[in-house]
Amino acid sequence: MKNLQVVLGRRPSGAPVPEDFELFAAPMPVPGEDDVLVRTTYLSVDPALRPRMNAVSAYAGPVAIGAVIPSPALGVVIRSLSPHFRPGDHVTGFFGWQAYAVVPADGLRQIDIDRAPEPKWLSLLGLSAFTAYVGVAELGRPRPGETLVVSAAAGATGAVAGQIARIFGARSVGIAGGPEKCAHVVDELGFDACLDYRAPDFVERLDAACPAGIDVDFENVGGDVLRAVFDRMNVAGRVILCGLVAEYNSDQWAAGPSLWPAVYKSLRIEGFRASRHFDRIPEFVDKALAWAAEGRLRQSEHIVEGLANAPAAFCQMLAGRHLGKVMVRVEENL
Ligand SMILES: NC(=O)c1ccc[n+]([C@@H]2O[C@H](COP(=O)([O-])OP(=O)(O)OC[C@H]3O[C@@H](n4cnc5c(N)ncnc54)[C@H](OP(=O)(O)O)[C@@H]3O)[C@@H](O)[C@H]2O)c1
Repeated sequence: MKNLQVVLGRRPSGAPVPEDFELFAAPMPVPGEDDVLVRTTYLSVDPALRPRMNAVSAYAGPVAIGAVIPSPALGVVIRSLSPHFRPGDHVTGFFGWQAYAVVPADGLRQIDIDRAPEPKWLSLLGLSAFTAYVGVAELGRPRPGETLVVSAAAGATGAVAGQIARIFGARSVGIAGGPEKCAHVVDELGFDACLDYRAPDFVERLDAACPAGIDVDFENVGGDVLRAVFDRMNVAGRVILCGLVAEYNSDQWAAGPSLWPAVYKSLRIEGFRASRHFDRIPEFVDKALAWAAEGRLRQSEHIVEGLANAPAAFCQMLAGRHLGKVMVRVEENL
């Protein structure tokens, strides 16, 4: 038996294309002491992979040519040399884009598919949604009546951030690419407004949607979108830097807005990585399930079939082709 993997074939220039990846049939991995052999069921498709495809990446280190694409995933335990896991257990961890992975037991977390169907553990209950929870509930902390603006609002993280802000009693204003995504964000996710950043009158619409200014920016995009939002922050506002996806296809980080308004408006600017808060995942899962049961939190899923289609799914996700959490279902008999 072979282990089908998606590996980095070459470093992309600008926007990635599927030809930057290669399929590789590796020998089946063999678990050592305290390891677990997992069959992958669903793979996460995440923008932050793109900066790691460059030759130099301060963030988490570059992916080597020929290396398996790193990624959070879901799976089922096939064989366990750890007392903590048994064959048949459903688990999540960083398995990478491959059909099978050997993972140390302390790199796995059990998931309960009786509490939520399996793919929900990557979407509604997954790391992007958890990131939104940390950024809003812990860092941005919008108060009732305040306005939170979130970019990439139709995506996995932004959609959840805006809904949690509304649960906190704030107004949620989304920013997304195109009228269809904006309609989804307002009509399906319940945001107060959503603005198309590609529209020629985007800045005027932002002013109209935020008549009392902006108290919290949940920033997923950077570039011109960040500049427009930054200029409209209120005194004592919070700029929560979750990601800068508009810059990921470049090997140079762009110059940001002038920081002078941060001085005279007493802004708090805070970047964060959700991985520093993983001890709060159980608390988040309980809350997200309760909010979902009350109809206050939902997450769309875009599921692509087949491991070999993961590269195309990734390129399309970065190009903004899909709504909600993008993931790949891995075939059982590879
Ligand atoms: N800090 C952390 O721990 C952490 C963890 C997870 C994710 N993140 C960050 O959260 C952000 C969203 O990630 P996600 O996984 O939820 O992805 P996502 O929002 O589901 O998908 C990415 C979206 O980015 C938007 N986009 C791409 N290029 C853009 C550009 N040039 N200008 C404006 N928008 C652009 C596209 O939406 P449009 O169609 O609207 O353009 C696309 O749908 C990313 O910045 C990611 O790195 C951070």
